[in-house]
Amino acid sequence: MTVTIVGAQLGDEGKGGIVDVYGDAADVVVRYQGGDNAGHTVVHEGEEYKLSLVPSGAVRGKTGVLGNGCVVNPTTLFDELDTLRERGLDPDVRVAERAHVIMPYHRVLDGIEEDAKDDLAAGTTGRGIGPTYEDKAGRRGVRVGDLLDPDVLRDRLEYAVPHKRSLVENFGADPDADRFEGAFDVDELFEEYRALGERLADEEMTVDAGAFLQSHLDRDENVMFEGAQGTSIDIDHGIYPYVTSSNPTAGAAAVGSGVGPTVVGQGEVVGIVKGYLSRVGTGPLPTELGHVEGQTPPEGGDTSETGQALATYIRDEGGEYGTVTGRPRRVGWLDIPMLRHAARVNGFTGLAVNHVDVLAGLDEVKVGHSYTLDGEETTTMPATTEKWGRCEANLRTFDGWPEFDAEQVAQEGYDALPENARTYLEYVSDELDVPIYCVGVGPGREQTVVVEDVWT
Ligand code: IMP
Repeated sequence: MTVTIVGAQLGDEGKGGIVDVYGDAADVVVRYQGGDNAGHTVVHEGEEYKLSLVPSGAVRGKTGVLGNGCVVNPTTLFDELDTLRERGLDPDVRVAERAHVIMPYHRVLDGIEEDAKDDLAAGTTGRGIGPTYEDKAGRRGVRVGDLLDPDVLRDRLEYAVPHKRSLVENFGADPDADRFEGAFDVDELFEEYRALGERLADEEMTVDAGAFLQSHLDRDENVMFEGAQGTSIDIDHGIYPYVTSSNPTAGAAAVGSGVGPTVVGQGEVVGIVKGYLSRVGTGPLPTELGHVEGQTPPEGGDTSETGQALATYIRDEGGEYGTVTGRPRRVGWLDIPMLRHAARVNGFTGLAVNHVDVLAGLDEVKVGHSYTLDGEETTTMPATTEKWGRCEANLRTFDGWPEFDAEQVAQEGYDALPENARTYLEYVSDELDVPIYCVGVGPGREQTVVVEDVWT
């Protein structure tokens, strides 16, 4: 059977922790989109692991798969695997031969294009994600399988690299400049990536992902699909153009891994919600508190003293600084129209609400219940980001709840949560018409209140 874990908001909802909690019964954990833009922190036996590409389940001894929908930077992959090995783990990670490879020129172009975009810049992680998916769609990408075949690799590079060189020249830069470190040199790229291909082959890491997963499913094993990023930065369903270039939403679990939609649809689809909102990058955010320089739009955020103080409190309590980049994240109240949109797009069967402990200690907790858009009330996200930017959040206020002993509550179960926290959670569940499956009250899995076992 399968379980799919999807971020319901803007990424950084704490998906890794939930994969960790529910991953025990999984045999295989699969990523189906994105690349090393996905910072996730996993706490295992008191040790903290920060990963950006390796599926978080691999830390716990599961077979990890990077599906065909992923974009893979092999250097990052081997760095992460080497680090895990140095720390005494023995990760088993397989990579789809159909997955696309992030090449050095993709990273360079990510930076150059972002700089040139000005107001439309998405504030990318600079990992080359967008340019790699562009080449995939433009049919000039290099796939993982190509790294294993030197003739094909050279052909692909000879076609793609001149295209990239002319792009850089169009931006007024010299592709042979020292600062690009050979990123546009066919011979250098060929040697480096052929060697990476040899290592992938030596370690028997490449697979036909769909066939590999089907063979596990045929043995009645449990497969968990681990979405990266979140629904509102999905390239189709998110706040375009301030999005990532893949589909974090549940439908992509099938396309990005090579199993059918019916396989994914027979299992649970768990939406991961953070009890408030956080965002790395630019674009509107109707429930934003405070203001982050260079990210919050000029008119955005709540820059009152209270708004700033609440933002700082939530950011510090929640450790809201990017795992990959260290940038302070923008924060805001929970946005219910965003969650209604996510529940429909993904077909959530259950919710995991994280970081409920971060809000403890506040006198009042607010949520954006609906928006006012051009004088009319609306309960879901509009389809264009420009309209979303004109939405004003209609806030609802809940009584706050006191600090509590997370581990004790997790042991005793849902009813041990403070009453006001339960009222808040039940409001969210009712509005989305989706049951609460678990509640995160701290970073470790012993600080998660499990209401529902997703595998039974
Ligand atoms: P890219 O994925 O690096 O191209 O970045 C595109 C947008 O997605 C930017 O606004 C990033 O901040 C955002 N983004 C990418 N990965 C993550 C993530 O794992 N969590 C939160 N935001 C992300």
